[in-house]
Amino acid sequence: MRADKGTHWHLGVIGGSGLAAGIELDDAQEIRVASPFGEPSGPVVTGWLGGVRMTFLARHGAGHAIPPSAVNYRANIDVLKRCGVTDILSLSAIGSLREEMAPGQFVIVDQFIDRTAGRAGSFFGTGLVAHVSLADPVCPRLSALAAASAQAGGAAVHPQGTYVAIEGPQFSTRAESHMYRAWGADVIGMTAMPEARLAREAELPYALLGMVTDYDCWRADTAGVEVSDVLAVMHHNAGLARQTVRALAARLPERRDPSPIDTALEQALITAPEARD
Ligand code: ADE
Repeated sequence: MRADKGTHWHLGVIGGSGLAAGIELDDAQEIRVASPFGEPSGPVVTGWLGGVRMTFLARHGAGHAIPPSAVNYRANIDVLKRCGVTDILSLSAIGSLREEMAPGQFVIVDQFIDRTAGRAGSFFGTGLVAHVSLADPVCPRLSALAAASAQAGGAAVHPQGTYVAIEGPQFSTRAESHMYRAWGADVIGMTAMPEARLAREAELPYALLGMVTDYDCWRADTAGVEVSDVLAVMHHNAGLARQTVRALAARLPERRDPSPIDTALEQALITAPEARD
């Protein structure tokens, strides 16, 4: 999986609910990329935006037909890596567990609590064992650039937030929602895990721009989450999300300096060379 990234940015963008239509790119080409990890969510669209190479993948496939538990996160990260992306910006709808993170606002997630179950969550296993560090699971450089770009695009942005990833597809009970708040989670979603951990294993710096669509169900006076509410806010926000990606392309430094995440596996492989498959 190793590749010298050189000094050029190639941004991989994973679009979530409401963003399946993608981002308008110059010289766009739709490409089906095969992965040994199975079927990705669909073809990628690769092209240019403001002189920056970009490759887009719709997480839930065309028409949002793939539920969070069935997304092949390994294949998705693998095909982006095979396309040569250097960094990944993930765009996701999220629920808010904090009064101050209101629907319509953006949160640059910087920590995760993983409550998903049964998803293939590693590229490694028997024959080649690796333990990458996830203490700081997102790329601070790309996160800061994404925050500044979202703000420039006119969004209200929270620069930090802890995301609890639930298995879904159902939304949470009120008791769970209160528990996640007590754990210190700020926002909730169904897809950032294992996506973020796989990006780290693939040595791809990852940032998550979460778009708040609802207050989940911890507020006594608020009804439970409805998909129609989530989609209404997402449709409203899709323009801001696209604007953020355009602003990010303009804001990326001309030259991409190496990131420590580019070599995350150097300290992580534990299987002796002679025992590797
Ligand atoms: N995605 C958007 N809103 C959500 C919520 N309240 N819970 C889980 N995932 C979500």
